[in-house]
Amino acid sequence: MKGQNLSPETLVAQAMGEIDPTSGAVTPPISLSTTFEQAADGSYHQGRVYSRADNPTYEQAERMLAMLEGAGGGCLLFGSGMAAATAVFQALVPGDHVVVARVLYWGVRKWLAEFGLSWGLDVAFVDTADLDAVKAAIRPGVTRLVWVETPANPTWEITDLAAVCDLAHAAGARVAVDNTVPTPVLTRPIALGADLVVHSATKYLNGHSDVLAGAVLSARNDPFWQRIRSWRRTGGAVPGPFEAWLLVRGMRTLFLRVERASRSASTVAQHFEKHPALRAVLYPGLPSHPGHAIAARQMTGGFGGMLSIRMAGGAAAAQAALAAVKVFKRATSLGGVESLIEHRSSVEGPSSPVPDDLLRLSIGIESVGDLIADLEVALDAARSTASGSGAPDK
Ligand SMILES: Cc1ncc(COP(=O)(O)O)c(C=O)c1O
Repeated sequence: MKGQNLSPETLVAQAMGEIDPTSGAVTPPISLSTTFEQAADGSYHQGRVYSRADNPTYEQAERMLAMLEGAGGGCLLFGSGMAAATAVFQALVPGDHVVVARVLYWGVRKWLAEFGLSWGLDVAFVDTADLDAVKAAIRPGVTRLVWVETPANPTWEITDLAAVCDLAHAAGARVAVDNTVPTPVLTRPIALGADLVVHSATKYLNGHSDVLAGAVLSARNDPFWQRIRSWRRTGGAVPGPFEAWLLVRGMRTLFLRVERASRSASTVAQHFEKHPALRAVLYPGLPSHPGHAIAARQMTGGFGGMLSIRMAGGAAAAQAALAAVKVFKRATSLGGVESLIEHRSSVEGPSSPVPDDLLRLSIGIESVGDLIADLEVALDAARSTASGSGAPDK
């Protein structure tokens, strides 16, 4: 399919149009071999030696994702999103100053607090939705990395990526964007100036809640990217070939799944925005969301499948609604074909900054009517619990 100028939808649906040269198979085989034959002259036909460094099945997933993200430097799969995220931080050196979004996936914040600081990183947490705060936090010539997630877990703040990239680049820092939630279907950070993109491929990229994987992508092949490559090769935080193969299969339907989830999330958000059991619906697609105008400019074709609701009846109402759902599954994670609901502050633990009246919803691809009906019943149950118990509105 080279030279045909095909759209990302076509390329990804056909797994780049690659046909297995040995069998003619349209669906790629899984390459399980951990080692590759050396020729008599000491060379390796295709450059692969050992699968901690290179594996044909990883490479297929990596080619697809690099194409989707427009990542000229390439893509590296990791064994999880956290392995991918921490590879970027661990490619820095002790003393490096990094600016990190205050609202972000809690696992990254926890890792930075537990290990990033002892690794010697000088971490400043800032509200990256506030450009003045970002500007004040970046130290020209000293800050090495700005780390952003948008929409950001679990309250879905929006960061203006192009503006943050301009601020960071003017000060000599690179920008890494966790693009797990919007996926390249809805946001392409490299086109907006980002240097690195990170994914938990466990979520939308695979899309079926049955693979743990991650990825880092780079806008260009530079020494920092080589360092991340070397980190993976020597550190070995790679997925198994079967996970990589499942990821290839999952990504073939990425556009369909993300477009559907995003459309349904928008319908759910609009439907419940004024519901009396709720004090707020947090979704960047709602004009009432503070980041809506930036999201409308920056996101392409939708606002994503994630939203959160805050219960007017507080934590007790949140627990009652959680207990009452039947179609939504009570489980952590996001981006699968099935809709999930979770009480985020309990999942994150006692140090969580998330309000205890908040429920996070990952909208799947089910009938949106079924999802709305399920939530209606759950919110009614929560209202009767809250009025019965006199739960405080906190
Ligand atoms: C936005 C985001 N980034 C990174 C991660 C970590 O990914 P994993 O669970 O694959 O390690 C998650 C997991 O929930 C996430 O939601």
